[in-house]
Amino acid sequence: MTGRRLSILSPKRNKRLQTGWEGFFPYYAGYPEHFARELLRTAKLPKGAVVLDPWNGSGTTTYTASGLGLDAVGIDLNPVMIIVARARLLPPSEADHLRPLAATILSHAHSASARLADDDPLLTWFDAETATFIRAIEQNIRRGLVGNMTKSPDGVKLDRISGTAATLYVALFAACRKLVAPFRSSNPTWLRRPKETDARLTASMIEVARLFGNNVRGMARALAANQLELLATGSPKQGGTRIALSDTAIMNLEAESVDFVLTSPPYCTRIDYTAATRIELAVLGPLLGTNARSLGLRMIGTTQVPKSQIEVSEDWGGTCARFLEELRRHPSKASGGYYYRTHLDYFDKMSRSMARMSTAMKPGARAVLVVQDSYYKEIHNDLPTVIGEIGKAHGLRLTRREDFHLRSMSDINPARLTYKRPSGATESVLCFAKK
Ligand SMILES: C[S@@+](CC[C@H](N)C(=O)[O-])C[C@H]1O[C@@H](n2cnc3c(N)ncnc32)[C@H](O)[C@@H]1O
Repeated sequence: MTGRRLSILSPKRNKRLQTGWEGFFPYYAGYPEHFARELLRTAKLPKGAVVLDPWNGSGTTTYTASGLGLDAVGIDLNPVMIIVARARLLPPSEADHLRPLAATILSHAHSASARLADDDPLLTWFDAETATFIRAIEQNIRRGLVGNMTKSPDGVKLDRISGTAATLYVALFAACRKLVAPFRSSNPTWLRRPKETDARLTASMIEVARLFGNNVRGMARALAANQLELLATGSPKQGGTRIALSDTAIMNLEAESVDFVLTSPPYCTRIDYTAATRIELAVLGPLLGTNARSLGLRMIGTTQVPKSQIEVSEDWGGTCARFLEELRRHPSKASGGYYYRTHLDYFDKMSRSMARMSTAMKPGARAVLVVQDSYYKEIHNDLPTVIGEIGKAHGLRLTRREDFHLRSMSDINPARLTYKRPSGATESVLCFAKK
């Protein structure tokens, strides 16, 4: 493996670096673009090599791989992330179309006499007038830019949506995100649903149109700046990229088709990945064939209790077995019940997903996983070691591990003081090779 030593930078996200095109795709659980670029660049992959991110989120891996001229496959179960990752891949040559398109969409939205379904999910946060106008914008994006090719009886095939449509959806997501700011809590990933008796949010058409228009203008500008940079640096032609909506625990990728995996799996810290994108899912409501609850149940790391009985598997390794046993015996309420079962669900889905990921890798292919540890009460959940052991059970040899100390969201959790656990978290970069 000499000559192919990967350069591993800190995977910590730095807000100051999130400017330009990257700045439009903030996502709390990702690693930064420069981390992914440096890794993929030093992987020295041959032309035509395929890079996979099975938990692609906002698409940092697929965007970076594509910019380096590599082919990439990005998978995610959350439809919002599919749209975001698609938008991120919009070729800079499309920058000029965005503003006129947004102007047309807004003028149709203003003049249309839109009707709103009584159960439109936007009504969770907005009053009827505001929701109607947001829906009118969304309907016009859909009517103008989401063609028949993408429609199916189970809803719109979001993985086939055009980059332009996806970009306009992202601009509308960001506008709505700003409007629902009063429902944010101290946990930045959590958006509160108002109580039945709470007043809903009101925003004038002018305000909604201004937010949407400003976002599109900003995106067009950032994309145009990318175009100039590409011309100046003579970057390679964008690689071919496929973004697919799929559940990694049951995904069917072609065996031995992948040369390199770069990913960060879902955390085991009770992050509800659908709750974090509630407002975006509400915008997409009419396009989805599934409801948010059933989507949430399939997510790795879900806070919902699994329907089936799950047994501890040998594939999860000794570290995981010891952690689960300590958790099950913890005297606090619900440890042996609810928390034990949701953790079983996490490790079961992770193990099944890693088995499928490994099958898709060519012999000798490498995989880099960014994994964070955490605490359950005072019990250390050494997820990087657990993932290393799960990988081993599925034919992956751990070749290197680099640890980075981070301040983490658990620092704002009062339980940290009650259970006397150290501040921050360790984010580990795990490098595997397929045997
Ligand atoms: C840690 S995030 C990935 C962040 C990504 N590296 C980025 O730069 O944005 C994990 C992702 O896994 C996705 N996910 C959770 N369960 C999944 C499943 N069963 N199948 C596919 N994706 C899943 C979540 O929707 C989330 O986007």
